[in-house]
Parts: sequence; structure tokens; C-alpha cells
Amino acid sequence: MRLTCTINGEAREVDGLWEGESLLHVLRERLGLPGAKNACEQGECGSCSVYLDGRLVCSCLVLAGQAEGREIVTVEGLAPEEELHPVQEAFLAAGAVQCGFCTPGLIVASHDLLRRDPRPSEADIREALAGNLCRCTGYAKIVDAVQLAAERLG
Ligand code: FES
Ligand code: FES
Repeated sequence: MRLTCTINGEAREVDGLWEGESLLHVLRERLGLPGAKNACEQGECGSCSVYLDGRLVCSCLVLAGQAEGREIVTVEGLAPEEELHPVQEAFLAAGAVQCGFCTPGLIVASHDLLRRDPRPSEADIREALAGNLCRCTGYAKIVDAVQLAAERLG
């Protein structure tokens, strides 16, 4: 099976996919984009979050075939190469990264929140990120990071 789609603004073609292969697997194992993480692979943790035609999705739940002809943006595509997006900078500045496994998914989900709502309340942030699990931080610093990013982007 072949997949033709756009990833981070670039036309990509991947051959030899098996039926049932996830978009997450294609990104990580075939295209060298390890930003989206494979933790639960059941849609429970949000660590594999990417944009599919501008909509936040868990890439572990998207079949590669469903991405045919569509536009995918991963955490690697949020900022130009070698640069960080203000949301990424805010996570670093706020100390919201510990082991970092959840971070790429949280960054994409926070990016999505801030483009929909540039001044979210703490409750809005917690609600928007409820599908992204973090075992390390206790979430307080993640909320701080999103608030900091909102200020910096505002
Ligand atoms: S790996 Fe996709 S939601 Fe957990
Ligand atoms: S920083 Fe370790 S899971 Fe979130």
C-alpha cells in the first residue's frame, strides 16, 4: 500500500505500508519523525498528538490509509528547523518538562488550544489538555507554561 500526503509542508510518499498500519508508526518508523510518541497506542494518553488537516488527532488511532491526500503537521513542523515555537520555549522556561515523554503531545495540544483561544483560563487549559497524560509533573507547571506562552504570543 502506498501513502501520499503532505507532512510539515512537504509532499511525502511512502510505499510498502501494511493494512492497519497507524499514522503514528509511519511517522516514527518510516519517516524519521519521532516527535509523536508511542505510549499507549490506544488513544488514551495524547502523547502521539498531531494535526490532521488542522484538527488535533491521536496519530495512533489514525490508519495510514486515512491520511491519504491529507495534510499532517507534527511537533517537528510547528517551528522552522533549528528553532523553537514560543509554546516550546514556554515549556522549557516554566520547567514543564521532566522525562519529556508527554511533552511533544502536550505542545501540539497547547498550540491547538492557543490558536483557538489566545487567553485561556486555567480551567480552559486543564480541560483542553485533559486527554494528555503526564506521569511526572503534576500538571501545575504545564498550566504555567501554557499561560506563559499565551502571554508571549499575546
Ligand atoms: S499513543 Fe496515541 S493516545 Fe497514547
Ligand atoms: S514529563 Fe514525564 S510524562 Fe510528562
